[in-house]
Amino acid sequence: MTTRQIAEMRANGEKIAVLTAYDATFAAAADFAGVDCIMVGDSLGMVCQGRSSTVGVSLESMLYHTQCVAQGLVRAEGSALLIADLPFGSYQHSRDQAIGSAIQLMQAGAQMVKLEGGGWTTDVVAFLVERGIPVCGHLGLTPQTVSAQGGYRVQGREEAAAERIRTEAAALDAAGAAMMVLEMIPARLAATISGEMKSCATIGIGAGNGTAGQVLVMHDMLGLNLGRMAKFVRNFLREADDVHAAFAAYVAAVKDGSFPDNRQHAW
Ligand code: KIV
Ligand code: NA
Repeated sequence: MTTRQIAEMRANGEKIAVLTAYDATFAAAADFAGVDCIMVGDSLGMVCQGRSSTVGVSLESMLYHTQCVAQGLVRAEGSALLIADLPFGSYQHSRDQAIGSAIQLMQAGAQMVKLEGGGWTTDVVAFLVERGIPVCGHLGLTPQTVSAQGGYRVQGREEAAAERIRTEAAALDAAGAAMMVLEMIPARLAATISGEMKSCATIGIGAGNGTAGQVLVMHDMLGLNLGRMAKFVRNFLREADDVHAAFAAYVAAVKDGSFPDNRQHAW
């Protein structure tokens, strides 16, 4: 899977199925099930490290898990595109800091890096893209700045907030972001933004089914969670015989548009 193929899928209306993974074995299994992109999310702070947020995740931890996943894909001769999160504090200081961190993730095996937020990030995204690093944006609920957002809650409900997200998304698209996660925003807003993108593939999580693709945290969709399960998650293991079948069911449900079901959302 290449960024060019992602762009083609978006253009052809073929839904993009993304799952997070943090280790070699699960990454290989997700790849085998047909997942298009594997995301080494800083959600590993919660899932693997037991933290209550992603704020304390280090670049070192991201590099370690990215290497594990990359190695798993090599062993399995996998083809999924590997996206890795730039963790909090690894790109906020300056463009120079961002490129330094992004290069380390790419050298650890990532094929695209993801960073959170809009506005000031536009300049950073353009800087990375110009230097040959594919970038995924992330708007809506941005867990690295959960304190500023007042908790894990739906974003973009009010008119002004929705307009801001729309504007930020357009700027990231113009800056060359190849993909963009839209997290916990109203389905209608996510669909509008998706339709307005010139080349960026939107990937929704808790954002309805009007996006170019979907992402879930792997452990969530297997019914494993240390805390409270988010409302938008579906447990794909419940009706599957094993983990492989659960991954395959997720891919099928994303591809045929049956996940997520817009009616499941109160926002
Ligand atoms: O960290 C993560 O897992 C993520 C995805 C859920 C988008 O950012
Ligand atoms: Na993340």
